[in-house]
Amino acid sequence: MLKRTHTCGDLTLGHVGETVVLNGWVDAWRDFGGLAFIDVRDRFGLTQVVFEPEAGAELQAAARELRSEYVIGIKGIVAPRLEGKANPKLKTGAIEVRAVELEVFNASPTPPFEMQGAEPNEEVRLKHRYLDLRRPAMQQVFVVRHNMTKLMRNTMSDLGFLEVETPMLGRSTPEGARDFLVPSRVHSGHFYALPQSPQLYKQLLMVSGFDRYFQIARCFRDEDLRSNRQPEFTQLDIEMSFVEFEDVLNTMEGLVVKIAKEFSGDDLTLPLPRIEYHDAMERFGNDRPDLRYGVELKDVADLAAETDFKVFQIAKDNGHRIRGLCATGGGTKYSRKDLDGLTEYAAGFGSKGLVWIKVEADTLTGPTAKFFTGDLATRLRERFDAKAGDLILIVADTEAVTSQALTNLRTRLASELKLYNPKTFHYSWVVKFPLLHWDAEENRYAAEHHPFTMPLPEDLHLLDTDPAKVRAQAYDLVINGEEAGGGTIRIHDSAIQSKVFALLGLTPEQAEEKFGFLLSALKNGAPPHGGLAFGVDRLVMLYSGLTNIRDCIAFPKTAKGTDLMTGAPGTVDARQLRDLHVRTVE
Ligand code: AMO
Ligand code: AMP
Repeated sequence: MLKRTHTCGDLTLGHVGETVVLNGWVDAWRDFGGLAFIDVRDRFGLTQVVFEPEAGAELQAAARELRSEYVIGIKGIVAPRLEGKANPKLKTGAIEVRAVELEVFNASPTPPFEMQGAEPNEEVRLKHRYLDLRRPAMQQVFVVRHNMTKLMRNTMSDLGFLEVETPMLGRSTPEGARDFLVPSRVHSGHFYALPQSPQLYKQLLMVSGFDRYFQIARCFRDEDLRSNRQPEFTQLDIEMSFVEFEDVLNTMEGLVVKIAKEFSGDDLTLPLPRIEYHDAMERFGNDRPDLRYGVELKDVADLAAETDFKVFQIAKDNGHRIRGLCATGGGTKYSRKDLDGLTEYAAGFGSKGLVWIKVEADTLTGPTAKFFTGDLATRLRERFDAKAGDLILIVADTEAVTSQALTNLRTRLASELKLYNPKTFHYSWVVKFPLLHWDAEENRYAAEHHPFTMPLPEDLHLLDTDPAKVRAQAYDLVINGEEAGGGTIRIHDSAIQSKVFALLGLTPEQAEEKFGFLLSALKNGAPPHGGLAFGVDRLVMLYSGLTNIRDCIAFPKTAKGTDLMTGAPGTVDARQLRDLHVRTVE
């Protein structure tokens, strides 16, 4: 076998005259009568190879048989490219290799897409993922991914954290999402659950005295998939003992600084900005605001109450909220048709309509503008600090609908109106989340993060009197509107833990049955502890400038949870099911 002496990204003018061997894939081939050229490609780059008449008729004939994606070995002599033929965009662009020997390791049919061309259709990419991953654009993402986990491992290790693996086969515990279950063969009717995160194990490791733990951990959640969610994803999972809120945030900021430096070149100033959950909801309509731009939500209920507009009156009578935002330049940019589009977009989030008002130098225009006259018009402008050319959008509905509609409009308008530079990064912590939210379907409280989260000390007493008001010692790291990580200080007191389980609707017997091991560990010398988990896939996505998490996972699932390449999930034979004591129903 012709074994490589260099990669396809190595050779420069310094190698001229050397005899070298390259291994790789045929990227492109060109035949100019007497001369045949091919580009040979591997993960490291691309090198031009030329087959000259001097190399002999046999070699030239063999070269003419080469096609895209053939796998070859080439022996040749490094030579400078002809005057004017250098390609400054390629690291190897100053040289070419004059072939003296060729070995074809494997042929290939014409691939379904070009490796360096326009991005192929995703379905085709996923079906032929091994080819898709051969594309240099994809390989670059996995270089980032590798560097990300390497930096994480090294940093955590330097900070005295110990990497410990925790089981994939555990027991089903309520953490928010649905579990993936694995039937037990030995114990008929019993199931393991794949971990939604290593949450409880890492807490137990603190009880064991490991002090500082981390793991690059695979997590499994059977939930509706989105562009930033996969059923199987990776966390940098972290836990620390003898810490309070500030200690965890400080330590994590140390890591975030390194990540920012390496992957975006930014020098972050610490501490990172913090925004309280309640303020985030009020000002941006969600708990992971993109702070690269303003476009803040404003309450206009007081101004609306002074109008004769029926929609606003009805909203007031229903106790609904009336909130809006002002998009810089939106008044000039959007046509009547665009505004109908925005109204339809808002309707997708439950809004029954959308008031739009174009701000002009002296007037307000739009079908609803007539209700804001004189002083009211001035106060509306002032509320939004609106300038000529801006667009004010108002939604009257419940808290949830106004938040949902406006936060999505905010994101969409900021992008369409180019109100920020998409290549920049903004980091912030969202803190003081509510501990619980009311789950109307289940008719009980549910944990906002997970059931092991410690309330703020000043809110502890509210657990008995007004649980919905209790705020948690929880923190999410938000980068560019994406939840990049989240964590909490944990309950290390079994009495408080039991109280929270009770609020979540567990009887003492159920709590004992499901979480007896935790409650008993908490009674056996549990230190104060807390931690956090970063979404590794999401970080890679952000720093690779991608918008779809599938692009930074080697073998991802489609939005429907299928693997188009292997066909998973697939059926199994009756024997396997029998062994597992499982019967399927139509
Ligand atoms: P949480 O559920 O917030 O916390 O998850 C932590 C981070 O993991 C990422 N993430 C996901 N990434 C891709 N696909 C998904 N389906 C997905 N779900 C979550 C997010 C998120 O911020 N045990 C706690 C952490 C702790 O309290 O220490 C936990 O799992 O970036
Ligand atoms: P209607 O009275 O239903 O014809 O609505 C008059 C205008 O008010 C239209 O532009 C609607 O889009 C808008 N509108 C209706 N309901 C709402 C609402 N709940 N919030 C904001 N705008 C609304």
